[in-house]
Amino acid sequence: MNDISLSQVDLIREVFHYQSRFAGSTIVFKIEYPITEDPGFPGLVKDLALLAKTGFKVVIVPGAKENIDAVLKQQNIASTYATTTDFPVRVTTSQAIPFVEMAAFDVASRFMTFLSGSRVEAVIGNFVRARGLGVKNGVDTEHTGTVDKIYADSLNKVLNLGMVPILPCIGWSPSGKPYNVQSDEIALAVSTALKAVKLFIVSVNDGLRADFLPEKPKTRPDGRLDRLTTREAEAVIAAGNGYKGQNEAETVSLQRYLRELKLALLASKAGVHRVHIVDGRQAGSVLKELFSNLGAGTMIYADEYDSIRALHSRDLPDILRLMEPLMQNGILIRRSADQILERKGDYSVFEIDGSVRACGALHDWGEAQGEIAAVATDPQYADMGLGRRIVGFLVEKARKAKMRRVFALTTQTQDWFESLGFKEAPVEALPEQKRTAYDQNRKSKVFALEL
Ligand SMILES: CC(C)(COP(=O)(O)OP(=O)(O)OC[C@H]1O[C@@H](n2cnc3c(N)ncnc32)[C@H](O)[C@@H]1OP(=O)(O)O)[C@@H](O)C(=O)NCCC(=O)NCCS
Repeated sequence: MNDISLSQVDLIREVFHYQSRFAGSTIVFKIEYPITEDPGFPGLVKDLALLAKTGFKVVIVPGAKENIDAVLKQQNIASTYATTTDFPVRVTTSQAIPFVEMAAFDVASRFMTFLSGSRVEAVIGNFVRARGLGVKNGVDTEHTGTVDKIYADSLNKVLNLGMVPILPCIGWSPSGKPYNVQSDEIALAVSTALKAVKLFIVSVNDGLRADFLPEKPKTRPDGRLDRLTTREAEAVIAAGNGYKGQNEAETVSLQRYLRELKLALLASKAGVHRVHIVDGRQAGSVLKELFSNLGAGTMIYADEYDSIRALHSRDLPDILRLMEPLMQNGILIRRSADQILERKGDYSVFEIDGSVRACGALHDWGEAQGEIAAVATDPQYADMGLGRRIVGFLVEKARKAKMRRVFALTTQTQDWFESLGFKEAPVEALPEQKRTAYDQNRKSKVFALEL
């Protein structure tokens, strides 16, 4: 093997860390039909097989829309749709349903084929109980159904055996009547029923862009949105709904983005912590999104403050790793592991996908004044608002503790604290205990925020 570079070692660490933390967790993959026809499809399934082999519980929900359209066309059966409040739904007549089943199982078996090639056992199953959607806007949707129940116990048994369940877009009534159910709905229902830690929407989407947004959230240099809170996702959907594409191709791809984003938002609101939309045609996109620092697609995540929490002892190596280079070059005051543990309750950390990416502390110095200290962000996550949110969280904590003022001592970060509303204050304004401990040689500046 060639020599391994330091960045590769970092990546290996990241993968092991992730694997040890999340193995045994469920990840649902909703995979759009065009991906199954892409030359990269075998590679994608191989990556899913690898995840299953290393202990992740992998569930696959294949979309089959275009395949169903093609099979119905071959049979000279017209595809008609009924309008609902959200998206149009296919009307599945009794003439069409056998062919819809055939098309859906054909797609599911493509996954089976490549999983077998990777020596991973899979099950195409009847894990969805469905009921008829009924009459929509005067149109009888016949064999079109909606999820009634996901058989989570059976799915868990299969997953605990290390097998991969594949859920085609068909559900059955308790009496055995088949219904065509939208795979988006199945993906959502199965993610919540199994308490999946992640839902991946693997699509032909080359990345959500912010071009049409009135207020642009932070994007990658190529203009793609890399992460959105649920609130931001809602704003994107609202802006997207009102936007007319400049041509048909743009309108079609925007509709697809919006549809995927709506699924992501629903899943996120239903408790799936992270939803990732990735382009399945890009080699390794799922692994990149899981294991590289900034991923390859767009991540939608629940409330931002969910990620900020108190420091646990197990986080110590992580925050020392964050602080060490800053302590070495004098930006942060040196603190030993023991000193941090002594005031453990003062520290908060910002966790992203199981790793600590930023930290900060609020020390109570009496006189209703608190010091915001040890604020540090992982450089790979710089400029994404983590530092600001950690400070915001600590300010809130100070308010709850009835402090009247917070301050920070800084030698090189004054502009940043000013941008957060802090104002320079004299050393004399510090509480007495802190004044006594103030290092005259360091000549730190005091920045304070009145609460
Ligand atoms: C300061 C620090 C915590 C900011 O972290 P962050 O998560 O990148 O911060 P945010 O994303 O909230 O803010 C980034 C913005 O602040 C600016 N910024 C970052 N460091 C800055 C500094 N030292 N001075 C002025 N502005 C700074 C960035 O340019 C960026 O500006 P933009 O929004 O216009 O693009 C991080 O740079 C760090 O770890 N610095 C070293 C430790 C330190 O100085 N801690 C404070 C003393 S307790």
